[in-house]
Amino acid sequence: MFLYVLFLVPLWFIYRWYKETKRVANKSQKYVLITGCDTGFGNLLARHLDKLGFCVTAACYTEKGEDELKKACSERLKTLHLDVTSQDSINKAVTFLTTVVGEKGLWAVVNNAGVSVPTAPCDWLTVEDYRGMLEVNLNGVIAVTLSVLPLIKKARGRVVNVASVCGRVSPFGGPYCVSKYGVESFNDSLRMNMAPFGVKVLCIEPGFFKTSVTDVSILKKNIKTLWDRLPQDVKDDYGSDYLHKVDLKFNDTFTKMLDGDLMKVVNCMEHAVSALHPRTRYSPGWDAKFFWLPMSYMPTFISDKFFLRDAVKPKISVL
Ligand SMILES: NC(=O)c1ccc[n+]([C@@H]2O[C@H](COP(=O)([O-])OP(=O)(O)OC[C@H]3O[C@@H](n4cnc5c(N)ncnc54)[C@H](OP(=O)(O)O)[C@@H]3O)[C@@H](O)[C@H]2O)c1
Repeated sequence: MFLYVLFLVPLWFIYRWYKETKRVANKSQKYVLITGCDTGFGNLLARHLDKLGFCVTAACYTEKGEDELKKACSERLKTLHLDVTSQDSINKAVTFLTTVVGEKGLWAVVNNAGVSVPTAPCDWLTVEDYRGMLEVNLNGVIAVTLSVLPLIKKARGRVVNVASVCGRVSPFGGPYCVSKYGVESFNDSLRMNMAPFGVKVLCIEPGFFKTSVTDVSILKKNIKTLWDRLPQDVKDDYGSDYLHKVDLKFNDTFTKMLDGDLMKVVNCMEHAVSALHPRTRYSPGWDAKFFWLPMSYMPTFISDKFFLRDAVKPKISVL
């Protein structure tokens, strides 16, 4: 029996590997919309899919982002301005897309745009801080998806949602993890609702990579700004050296966690867009595969103990 299993497991992996190498045909007839293409994963994905022959529409937040992409890519690639928090901006993008894709419909939308600040302990933040980030990371994903869904259904295409390992565990405070848990939930309900229409919904859950959202100087500046506006009693609870300890944590631990190989994520996104048999979920990054995901399956008392052991604690901590 043991030998039987030993033989079947590698055979299954070989079958899966073979199945996953197959790609869709007619890439030059397939239209893909990517949000947040100014920098990071979105920018690299736009260039990569353009090289592979897809008809990419790269939605950028800034004019600079559009100009740079146009210079670097083929004439097939189109750019447009898109602020995912503005329905007016989304409507304009859909009008443009409708004329571009015609009867073929939209093959894929990659919901990639996102922000990572403000991030701080929950009791430092206001509900407005939460609203601002949820507007981009969660409502932006929902608004863009619902607006392009008729075009996607026409093509029997795909929705690719960029969540995070922070949609599985919440190792720090603030709206980021809340937004990514929301993306996971939207992704899962949409996947089931769209299955009867032949539309696939795929989720990317990257670990920690070196991009603007993990830029330590931006994160440190953000936490300092939030600290400065705190009432004195909260500052007293946390202690005057709290910020310094957080800075050390960023320098000693966080920067070392970041993976510089962004293609690990981009290759998963490309697979989700172009594979004949895409995976339902992708976990790019060794940290995602071997730390964050296993941690998400642990009993809460174990994961809490682990995260709290390493966390910077307030001065009056009872732990
Ligand atoms: N890096 C990581 O470790 C990591 C891990 C897990 C998940 N993710 C997710 O991956 C996605 C891409 O992030 P990234 O790491 O590639 O960082 P990034 O380089 O900062 O990319 C995010 C992009 O979203 C754009 N954006 C911000 N607000 C927007 C808005 N309101 N409307 C449209 N676009 C907007 C940004 O434009 P500007 O640059 O002009 O602001 C930027 O181009 C995000 O959803 C992020 O949460 C990242």
